[in-house]
Amino acid sequence: MQLKLPFLASLEELKPEDKSAFSDPSFASNKLLPVHRWVPWIAGFSSGFVRGIIEDKLDERAIVLDPFAGVGTTLVEATLMGHDGIGFEINPYAALACRVKVNAHKLNWQDVRREVSRLQEFYNHTVSNGYSPISKPPSGFRSRKAFYSLTVLRKVLIIQDFINRLNNEQTQEVFKLAFASTMVHYSNYSYEPSLGTRSAAGKSDIEDFPVLDIIAEKLNRMILDIEEIGDNIYAGLTNARIINSSFFDYEQHIEANSIDVAITSPPYLNNYHYIRNTRPHLYWLGFVKNPNDTKPLEHQNFGKYWQTVRELDAVNLTFPDPPVELIDKIAYLRTLNLERGIYSGNGWANYAASYFNDCYRFAQGLRYALKPGSSAFIVIGNSILQGVMIPTDLYLSKIAERSGLELVSINILRATRVGNSIIQSDVRVAKADSSHRLYESVVELRQPR
Ligand SMILES: C[S@@+](CC[C@H](N)C(=O)[O-])C[C@H]1O[C@@H](n2cnc3c(N)ncnc32)[C@H](O)[C@@H]1O
Repeated sequence: MQLKLPFLASLEELKPEDKSAFSDPSFASNKLLPVHRWVPWIAGFSSGFVRGIIEDKLDERAIVLDPFAGVGTTLVEATLMGHDGIGFEINPYAALACRVKVNAHKLNWQDVRREVSRLQEFYNHTVSNGYSPISKPPSGFRSRKAFYSLTVLRKVLIIQDFINRLNNEQTQEVFKLAFASTMVHYSNYSYEPSLGTRSAAGKSDIEDFPVLDIIAEKLNRMILDIEEIGDNIYAGLTNARIINSSFFDYEQHIEANSIDVAITSPPYLNNYHYIRNTRPHLYWLGFVKNPNDTKPLEHQNFGKYWQTVRELDAVNLTFPDPPVELIDKIAYLRTLNLERGIYSGNGWANYAASYFNDCYRFAQGLRYALKPGSSAFIVIGNSILQGVMIPTDLYLSKIAERSGLELVSINILRATRVGNSIIQSDVRVAKADSSHRLYESVVELRQPR
């Protein structure tokens, strides 16, 4: 077994070429590559990373699984390389993005091109002549500050009127995605990396914006990208199935021992709130009507969220034979900052225990799904909770071994990730000492033969 332990002192000594066994350790290329660049998302890895694994592991047409598909980096790359894919994703907006991307080669793009011209005509005709849009903003969507200025809102509603009248469902999904993937740009909110008001981030509000231009540009980019990959020999031959439900329902959707390789990045133990951060998308696309609709998603989310477990009494590790170091760490976390009420160590201990309980369920899902001798590659970030370092890669590996999987390797992909707001508020990353470094690893787990 090749094991590069993420002992943080040794990170300093790694040469750049050792820091990753893979080609794009900065994960930046997704922003530049056709199809991958359509929808921004916290991805975990780049298409080059996925390609490297598929080239290394698969010779003939095979089935690639992503249990936490996000906006589909794994599945897009797998299908472009001539493989079939299965992806689970609980967030309906991300699932929409994934579905549009992996089915893009089957779409009638002439129809999309025609409708882009019609949108421009409709918009230019209506925007300056006193037209009253029929569409309304989603009634259940509340925000601390007006999400759009009145001028921008009218433009957005004109575009909604057009999208709602599109007859072809697939073309309509492309337009919805072009709107949703740009909608925050012209709002009074921004990603820092969590969604907050522009004013809180020191940015000025957006009074007016060329809304049509940015959406039309996105649509034209999509058309050009499809033309660019159009010559791909596999386009049209492969299939990817996007399942808009939790991976924990795996038995309902996939055959036992049917998967040739899994490449995935689950949510990290950093409480990045995928649901809250996509509230505008979920409401405006009609996936969510009121706050109660998001509750089930929050509970199904891998590891839950700190907000959903912080007020419970002690949440314990519930799987057989938990690693002793993990039991000790959670017990220690529970004793910290007791005077802080819901912000005390107990809430964070509950969150960590929920997260590792889900690591066990995840490992069991892989044990069920993988063919004998097949591997899962899992990109995962470590965490710092209340100043306590949690090496998630090591704990996940140990937990997976308890599920009967073999640990093949742990490699550090990237060190000193930018911390999210929760981590920054407790332990400023810049001030953290060498034992408080953030890093991401890829863990390879194998189904025994
Ligand atoms: C780190 S992101 C994956 C990003 C992905 N690699 C990509 O290229 O876009 C983790 C994803 O897991 C999803 N997720 C969380 N819990 C899930 C669950 N129980 N089943 C399926 N997906 C889940 C989140 O909505 C999020 O999109």
